[in-house]
Amino acid sequence: MRKQFMACFLLIAAIHIQAQDNKMNGFISTLMSKMTVDEKIGQLNLVTPGGAVTGSVVSQDVDEKIRQGKVGGLFGITGPEKVRQAQDIAVQHSRLHIPLLFGLDVIHGLETVFPIPLAMSCTWDTVLIQKSARIAAAEASADGLDWTFSPMVDIARDPRWGRVAEGSGEDPCLGSAIAAAMVRGYQGKDLAQKDALMACVKHFALYGAAEAGREYNTVDMSRIKMYQYYLPPYKAAVDAGVGSVMTSFNEIDGIPATGNKWLLTDLLRNEWKFKGLVVSDYTSLSEMTAHGMGDLQTVSALAMNAGLDMDMVAEGYLTTLKQSLKKGRVTEKQVDQACRRVLEAKYKLGLFTDPYRRMNAERASAEILSATNRNAARETAEHSFVLLKNGEQVLPLKKSGTIALIGPLASNHRNMLGTWSVAGDPSKSVSVLEGIKNVAGTSVNILYAKGANISDDSVLVAHTNVFGPEIEPETRKPEDMLNEAVAAAEKSDVVVAVLGEAADMTGESSSRADISIPESQETLLKALVKTGKPVVLVLFNGRPLTLEWENQHVNAILDAWFGGTEAGNAIADVLFGDYNPSGKLSMSFPVSVGQIPVYYNAKNTGRPYDGKGSPKFKSDYLDIPNDPLYPFGYGLSYTHFSYSGLVPDHTQISPRHPIQVKLTVSNTGNYDGEETVQLYIRDMVASVTQPVKELKKFQKVWLKKGESKEVVFTLNTDDLKFVNSQLHWVYEPGAFKVFVGGNSRDVLEITLNGIR
Ligand code: BGC
Repeated sequence: MRKQFMACFLLIAAIHIQAQDNKMNGFISTLMSKMTVDEKIGQLNLVTPGGAVTGSVVSQDVDEKIRQGKVGGLFGITGPEKVRQAQDIAVQHSRLHIPLLFGLDVIHGLETVFPIPLAMSCTWDTVLIQKSARIAAAEASADGLDWTFSPMVDIARDPRWGRVAEGSGEDPCLGSAIAAAMVRGYQGKDLAQKDALMACVKHFALYGAAEAGREYNTVDMSRIKMYQYYLPPYKAAVDAGVGSVMTSFNEIDGIPATGNKWLLTDLLRNEWKFKGLVVSDYTSLSEMTAHGMGDLQTVSALAMNAGLDMDMVAEGYLTTLKQSLKKGRVTEKQVDQACRRVLEAKYKLGLFTDPYRRMNAERASAEILSATNRNAARETAEHSFVLLKNGEQVLPLKKSGTIALIGPLASNHRNMLGTWSVAGDPSKSVSVLEGIKNVAGTSVNILYAKGANISDDSVLVAHTNVFGPEIEPETRKPEDMLNEAVAAAEKSDVVVAVLGEAADMTGESSSRADISIPESQETLLKALVKTGKPVVLVLFNGRPLTLEWENQHVNAILDAWFGGTEAGNAIADVLFGDYNPSGKLSMSFPVSVGQIPVYYNAKNTGRPYDGKGSPKFKSDYLDIPNDPLYPFGYGLSYTHFSYSGLVPDHTQISPRHPIQVKLTVSNTGNYDGEETVQLYIRDMVASVTQPVKELKKFQKVWLKKGESKEVVFTLNTDDLKFVNSQLHWVYEPGAFKVFVGGNSRDVLEITLNGIR
């Protein structure tokens, strides 16, 4: 009965969708029948009038171009009034009155800025992440925007690459869950809703695998590696219904993504059945010339033939497609198809019904930076922090005594928001000093000193300060600043050192070869440690850093990433134990740069070194260990969780018989807290070598102190599939190991048998 009801329901839903599609197709066909070729090509042109740009601004006379129907969309402007003015030109003064699409990089919130995406991924909490995207969409849509260039889902194993800050780390399972959650959050139930934003998954594809972590560098990888480890998060976004896809700057198999037919047509359209809009990245179309693919006309035709619909900034389509049509290098059918996809996006967003539907000054003033939104940002930030070390349980701090609050990031607004917070106002953010005062009140005596500049390296400072003075070197001598800080430390019960990177030391075009804390701050930290006072290091960083010295010498390390508007309050909540930290790393922290890439889902090799016996002729280094300093999935709590009794309900898994794996997790410490229980597998024998561990499931459990809970995971043979040499996801029977634990290193394990 239930099955019949479901079948009936699905049939009615399918008929409804078909009817809606027919209506949309009819509308667009009628509109397109009135369009000239120039107007169709105009729809493929996405321009920016300037502002926070990441390359040269190619487009001049934007207003005039809109009037002439030479612009399909605009990005980089915010605020209902500005957006309205541009929309007025399109709707009132262009021949066919086709509304514009307004986009922006709303990456981790609009004005209420949430933690950077890498931090959010450390919550392992898809509900919180979805909520953050919903709030971002509500704010951005009130501000007039229709489209966000997010989520960025590029898997990355190289922390030298600055854009790891924008993604969800190294793992495809976690990354896919987050990609889908963000799409759901932005797009809501229906794109036509006034508070929905069209999402854009990026950067398709493999951008996170740039060689040596150097920005915009070459990518080269096997198809098996792509399919199993790098492509799943993009696919998850597509399966979640993402409205658009952005191509990446890099090449794939020797052809830049923006002109890569295998990628954009064979894989994305034919294999994954993606029906939405494909847009290039900022001038990635014209950059194909520098890649060595030909002049602007050639690369524009290449992109059109590959399946690229919209050209961001390069104006290659606008200026060359008509000639290419004449020469037969592209077909009218292709141009029509691309134009149709742009118009479909506008239709689905409801812009043909009301082009002004997302410009609502009243809603903007009520919702943007509202107390509710700020609270959500604070909660998300608390959950994103990762406690890396807590020697002698120095944390949480008491709300009494004297704290020396030291460091260039301790009383700093400018760097709280992190990279890609283009609409965020740093002055609205809460600094750590303010947060501590808010949370601990007057019962704590705070001695603040800056102690050092973020960096004294003038080249680094200039490179970082492109969007404004994030690093503001003082005129005071470094020794004077240091002495002041040491004097404060000596008068205190505990030192809280707030150190790390400036916001734009990560993000686009911010690769670093040395990923340690900048030297000026290291010197400060060493001096603070020398005082003999307990030192708590609060870190600001958009990437894993090398922290070997810190791990050995400071008492506690709290990784606070870039926490967003509410960073300071959230940090204080955690420092004083109002929130017990629960974040878990989504990316391994290397011992040294020499280990990179270091990631948990590595292969065993033929000569693995397990740390026992002679290492000679084993896969290792003479001078550093193989293991990272902090592994994927790692993160401490103020309490302690113990794992026991891992048992399967039976030992043979088959396509028709899933297995349930049970275990008990107990809170044996002194605080209530939340744990992320992680399940990994290892396929012991397969036709393609498999990694030593692969995350398959995770669950969050909240446990009161002294409480135990049974945690149950269900595994089926789909969870055991891998990509074989024919690039098919397959299940091969045989022995599997299942590991469960609170990180990827410290686990319980059992062996199961997979049968047909
Ligand atoms: C970035 C994209 C971004 C675009 C528009 C590019 O430089 O790679 O992630 O969406 O600029 O701002």
